[in-house]
Amino acid sequence: MAMGRNFFVAAIATIVTSVLVPRVNADFQQACVALVSQLTIPSSTVADSSFVEAGTKLTFPNADPTCLPTQGVTSDICRVVLTIATSNHSSTFMEAWLPSSWTGRFLATGNGGIGGSIQYIDMDYGVSLVVEDFSWHSLLTSAVVGKQIPDDFYGTPHSGSYYLGCSTGGRQGWKMVQDYPDVFDGIVAGSPTLAWDNLMSWAGMFYTMILEAGPDGYPPASSWPAIDAELLKQCDGLDGAVDGIIEDPSLCNVQPDIPICPPGSNNTSSCITSKQAETVRGVFEPLFADGTLMFPGLQYGPGLVALIFEIYSTGQFLYMDNWFRFAVYDPTFNMTALTPDEIVFAWKSNPGDINMWSGDLSQFRNRGGKILHYHGQQDQLITSANSNRYYDLVSQTMQLSHSSLDEFYCFFRISGMQHCAGGSGATFIGNVEYTVASLDPDQNVLTAMVRWIEEEIAPETTTGTAYINQTQALGVDFRRAHCRYPYHNVYIGKDDAKDPASWNCVL
Ligand SMILES: *[C@@H]1O[C@H](CO)[C@@H](O)[C@H](O)[C@H]1NC(C)=O
Ligand SMILES: *[C@@H]1O[C@H](CO)[C@@H](O)[C@H](O)[C@H]1NC(C)=O
Ligand SMILES: *[C@@H]1O[C@H](CO)[C@@H](O)[C@H](O)[C@H]1NC(C)=O
Ligand SMILES: *[C@@H]1O[C@H](CO)[C@@H](O)[C@H](O)[C@H]1NC(C)=O
Ligand SMILES: *[C@@H]1O[C@H](CO)[C@@H](O)[C@H](O)[C@H]1NC(C)=O
Repeated sequence: MAMGRNFFVAAIATIVTSVLVPRVNADFQQACVALVSQLTIPSSTVADSSFVEAGTKLTFPNADPTCLPTQGVTSDICRVVLTIATSNHSSTFMEAWLPSSWTGRFLATGNGGIGGSIQYIDMDYGVSLVVEDFSWHSLLTSAVVGKQIPDDFYGTPHSGSYYLGCSTGGRQGWKMVQDYPDVFDGIVAGSPTLAWDNLMSWAGMFYTMILEAGPDGYPPASSWPAIDAELLKQCDGLDGAVDGIIEDPSLCNVQPDIPICPPGSNNTSSCITSKQAETVRGVFEPLFADGTLMFPGLQYGPGLVALIFEIYSTGQFLYMDNWFRFAVYDPTFNMTALTPDEIVFAWKSNPGDINMWSGDLSQFRNRGGKILHYHGQQDQLITSANSNRYYDLVSQTMQLSHSSLDEFYCFFRISGMQHCAGGSGATFIGNVEYTVASLDPDQNVLTAMVRWIEEEIAPETTTGTAYINQTQALGVDFRRAHCRYPYHNVYIGKDDAKDPASWNCVL
């Protein structure tokens, strides 16, 4: 995971897929094998082009151990592997997956965290839809190359270009919206790591806070469920239903009344000390430096206290640590006690232009581009409040009301969703391959975007599906339509919070 500045600006890969050029399979295979010697892409080395049959399990023996070692391929594809020089000392590794049946659409996918792995799972999602062209990249060069490959191969130009990504992939999508508005027609960007430098400082704050609290101030694991239950109790009913899901955590401004143990008591599963309670409250504090809000506080949500303590107590602060040591300062930097000056310095130095905190999207709007932004309301890694804040920035910068923004920019708050997936809500919205409940555009953010571009039907809501015990094989538990910001869901039913008709989006 140790990586320098070039890593962030050069992590690129591209994948492509899509529709129907009627071709017999033998021709497709032959054309695919021949492609390696036919592609002429500046500054690139095409290593291989080979036919991969549906059902193949690809393995990546040379990949970094932090990348997924295998990926199943569910459609017949032509797999193109190449590297492109992005400067004299950096290059990007990229793949294009060209399905045997192509719809003419081009799709690029992003990645997560500070990962430099190719997002093979999203590539497979795209190609298996038969309607998608998938590309994955973080820079313009790869998008341009990615589009060229299918056009050359199929002999017809692609008809629409799409981007899909969550987390760092979501931020990469926003990079395209803000700085390269002509590259993609439709961008689906989830849980984005916008204001990256401040996100790193905010995440670093948990580590410092826990370290400073010491053993006395650190609530024992046995107490986490009780703390979470107490926090949930205070916020759950605000949407009208006590169902374990907080529809709009931004409405929950309570001071958590965490049960404090009476003196002498040692029942740590139901109460904590006042010093520990202080640590718990600190988890939800926004990050200020020199009186300026740098990053909003963690939203309340079920299980979040446990998740935060799990994440930050086990030394997993590599993201922030590596960022500060290799991008902002130098390898000797110790970020355990970040000062306000250092936080402000990181924000202002903005290495690799990574913050992407521009609210002017007029170029993207003017060229007819559409954005579908979503954020899980139970995100344990990037507080969802940051997405609300970004939407508000765009609204203020462009002087546009939400109804005007909806013409090209819709932001959905996915209640009960953790970081990019998972959680107790109706979180299957088709944002990644393993959260597809349906290809119906009303229930799938990717096909919703394709419909928006091709049929000019903007998404009103996005309906998620929850499975029993969050396990798809156990069957559907319930569905719920998620609202566009700034609308929020309120319960209007009588006795069935699982009935989608029991909910209504209001301002
Ligand atoms: C590599 O370095 C040479 C000589 O300094 C320069 O002319 C060239 O533009 C560089 N190439 C890239 C891809 O940056
Ligand atoms: C606390 O624990 C000790 C020993 O484990 C036990 O003897 C004592 O009764 C406990 N006190 C309370 C209030 O539960
Ligand atoms: C600790 O508190 C919980 C919840 O109030 C209770 O169920 C449990 O019996 C208590 N345990 C002890 C040892 O007092
Ligand atoms: C960083 O600082 C903390 C607190 O002062 C200290 O405990 C830790 O050992 C330091 N880490 C390194 C790698 O120097
Ligand atoms: C769901 O999980 C609960 C709690 O673990 C368990 O009791 C229940 O049997 C599970 N339901 C199904 C259908 O597996």
